[in-house]
Amino acid sequence: MNVLGIETSCDETGIALYDNDKGVLAEALYSQIATHAEYGGVVPELASRDHIRKLSPLITQVLKDSGCTPVDIDGVAYTQGPGLVGALLTGAALARSLAWSWDVPALGVHHMEGHLLVPMLEDPAPEFPFISLLVSGGHTQLIQVDGLGKYQILGESVDDAAGEAFDKTAKLLGLDYPGGPALSALARQGNPERFTFPRPMTKRPGLDFSFSGLKTFALTTWQQHQDDNDREQLKADIAKAFEIAVVETLLFKCKRALKQTGLKRLVIAGGVSANQGLRDGLTRLQNELGIEVFSPRPARCTDNGIMIAYAGCLRLQRGESNDLNFQVRPRWSLENIN
Ligand code: KG4
Ligand code: ZN
Repeated sequence: MNVLGIETSCDETGIALYDNDKGVLAEALYSQIATHAEYGGVVPELASRDHIRKLSPLITQVLKDSGCTPVDIDGVAYTQGPGLVGALLTGAALARSLAWSWDVPALGVHHMEGHLLVPMLEDPAPEFPFISLLVSGGHTQLIQVDGLGKYQILGESVDDAAGEAFDKTAKLLGLDYPGGPALSALARQGNPERFTFPRPMTKRPGLDFSFSGLKTFALTTWQQHQDDNDREQLKADIAKAFEIAVVETLLFKCKRALKQTGLKRLVIAGGVSANQGLRDGLTRLQNELGIEVFSPRPARCTDNGIMIAYAGCLRLQRGESNDLNFQVRPRWSLENIN
């Protein structure tokens, strides 16, 4: 089955063709970072307009790169939610229309299910069941994954998501949007011994997270050292302490989730799973606990069309599809996916 995937939940237009026999046939990604950078965050209306501009040319490009024509396509998958309502509608409307005109089924996919499943395209691929750590700009969740669509949320952030905390802390350090990768790059020059940030909610039982206090801690540290001569080093040291605190907290809760469930496989996904500090920490955890750790390649951690094509393909193969009366779901919990 050859599936066209369309991702437009936020500020990336992602298109891909995935074939369950041949794998990823082609992919194209347009990032709107430059559009939103001057506003310091995503402007929803601009995001929708940019998706509309880019969707058709990118689909044409993916068809050309793959050597496919519309008659080769067996289904169209699009991101149904969660995400920005206008942005979701651009992809959903085009996907639904293409599927109608090509006379193939269309299916709305849960964006986080796309993130969660895309590590299964790597070699080696994780087998069910596993614990998934989903860390993106909007979500931080620990999920027990027993199979396709069988997701139990074990814990999640009660306030800011990990990516959101990275972005907000980066902003207060004067770094450009989106701050996560920039803060992480800056942290490489930081002294890990200088500041110690808290590990939120690790002293309490349970698997929930809270990251909003860390940005306040970063702000206070920044203000308390205003007289430092070397401001760049100060920024890097704060970035380092922040990153270590987020990574250590995530690892602590992963360990607890593995212990609680008795599972031996851990899979990370979502934008923050591209973070090198987190990846290094997981390698340490792997050696320490004798577990298996899986992660997508960095380009598939952040939003992309492949994850939607792949999750869509798995579900279309089960015979799922949506009728012509499509809808998007800006807020949508993974637990209500079926
Ligand atoms: O999964 P994603 O592309 O979009 C959402 O579904 O939210 O995640 C984007 C988030 C942003 O907050 C971004 O700053 C963060 O992932 N991110 C990173 C890194 N790369 C992306 N955070 C820390 N370190 C990185 N290397
Ligand atoms: Zn995402």
